[in-house]
Amino acid sequence: MINKDNGALTQFGNMWEKKAASLNVAYAHGKPVSERGTGCVFCHRITKAEDAGGNTDLTVNIKDRESYLFEDSGNRFLNWLSEKQINASSLQHKKSYSNPELYQSSLYCATCHNEFTSGPGANINDNFGEWLASPFNAPDKPEQHKTCIDCHMTQDVKDFNHKVAGQSTQDGPVKKNMRSHHFAGGNYYFTGMRSAEHKKISIDILKTALSLDVEKSGSDFTAKITNVNSGHDMPGGARRQVWLEVVATDASGQSIFESGVMNDGYIPKSARKFIKVSVDENDKPVGLRFWRYVKIGKDTRIKSGETRLEKFKLPAEIKYPVTISTRVLYQVFAKGLTEKVRAAFPEEKIPEPEVIELVKVVKKYSQ
Ligand code: HEC
Ligand code: HEC
Ligand code: HEC
Repeated sequence: MINKDNGALTQFGNMWEKKAASLNVAYAHGKPVSERGTGCVFCHRITKAEDAGGNTDLTVNIKDRESYLFEDSGNRFLNWLSEKQINASSLQHKKSYSNPELYQSSLYCATCHNEFTSGPGANINDNFGEWLASPFNAPDKPEQHKTCIDCHMTQDVKDFNHKVAGQSTQDGPVKKNMRSHHFAGGNYYFTGMRSAEHKKISIDILKTALSLDVEKSGSDFTAKITNVNSGHDMPGGARRQVWLEVVATDASGQSIFESGVMNDGYIPKSARKFIKVSVDENDKPVGLRFWRYVKIGKDTRIKSGETRLEKFKLPAEIKYPVTISTRVLYQVFAKGLTEKVRAAFPEEKIPEPEVIELVKVVKKYSQ
């Protein structure tokens, strides 16, 4: 348990000193795997998912995996022979790598994506619980029901209802709904380091999440933001900056009202933000020290299916016509965090994550 501390990560626990001995023990049972992070074999050897709140409450069975003759050979001909054995019994191969029921279930994803602190047991991330309570968890209404996999393993992230056919193996059967392994989410910044294509997929899925409508009556202005397409609270992750920007200009082009306009890359404190603030036992925001998290102090994220009303008072005396531009903006990390990382790695020349416009409505009023 990491708590009541303020040291470098290397001081936590004894994983560092023991040089990840537990992982080495696991490897000793199988063969060396040259994979980093959450790779193919790890995911496809998950044989059981518990419903114990996350923190990888799953079973990975690498040991009992059926191996193929010559599969680890460096010889091209022997590798070819090895692949032929898979083709000869493809159904058996498929069965050994994905239990059909488990690999369709949101619980499978929840094992890793739900996180809680080991001490206080506070939920750091509860995408699964939020999804259970969402309109997308509707097993009795197939046209409405969508699992994590339906939205995050689809080839068309702009339209979750559009199933794209394809082949997942050479000369294999054409599947009506061929899954994608992009796992597109909000992090357009990291995926953008991989390629422009991956960045675009991430921005595309983000832009589907919300809808925006506005209403003006006298000096009362209301922005209505609806989480139409995210299967959990929006934003779905930590550290994301999602906020409302309102700018009203009068006939002479003069700005007469502003809210949420960035100042030198910083979001003003007064902005209407959609955010979760985690606090410690003294109700102090934990910031980057996530392990001190005890409870949620403030939560203005928008629930799946919810419409949020943000009300503003415009100045009483206005020279009409007035144009009001309203936008919901998204930034993967705040400038303050980027500055901290830059200071720690000055030689890396870390770029500032750009601001993404999720939705925009511009309206002109004559009274
Ligand atoms: C995060 C976990 C995860 C990782 C990592 C992962 N998969 Fe998958 N994969 C899944 C799930 C879940 C499905 C089942 C989707 C379905 O059938 O609805 C799947 C389906 C598949 C399918 C069948 C696709 C289809 O539509 O028929 C193949 C083939 C496959 N994965 C291969 C791979 C390969 C190769 C890698 C590594 C490059 C990989 N997977 C990495 C979770 C993962
Ligand atoms: C074995 C653990 C594991 C499993 C199982 C898993 N994931 Fe992930 N997933 C990760 C890790 C690690 C990352 C990268 C770190 C991060 O962004 O949280 C990630 C990243 C993602 C992202 C991108 C997040 C972002 O900020 O852009 C999405 C979306 C995602 N996973 C969805 C899924 C879905 C859907 C499933 C179920 C099919 C699933 N994951 C199963 C570990 C897992
Ligand atoms: C109806 C479609 C839908 C379903 C169902 C859904 N998601 Fe998402 N998810 C989205 C969209 C859209 C976004 C991007 C906007 C956001 O952050 O909410 C997203 C974002 C994410 C992210 C990245 C968050 C971030 O801040 O980078 C993760 C991780 C994720 N989802 C995991 C899951 C898991 C796990 C499940 C199932 C328990 C799930 N999603 C179910 C649509 C869906």
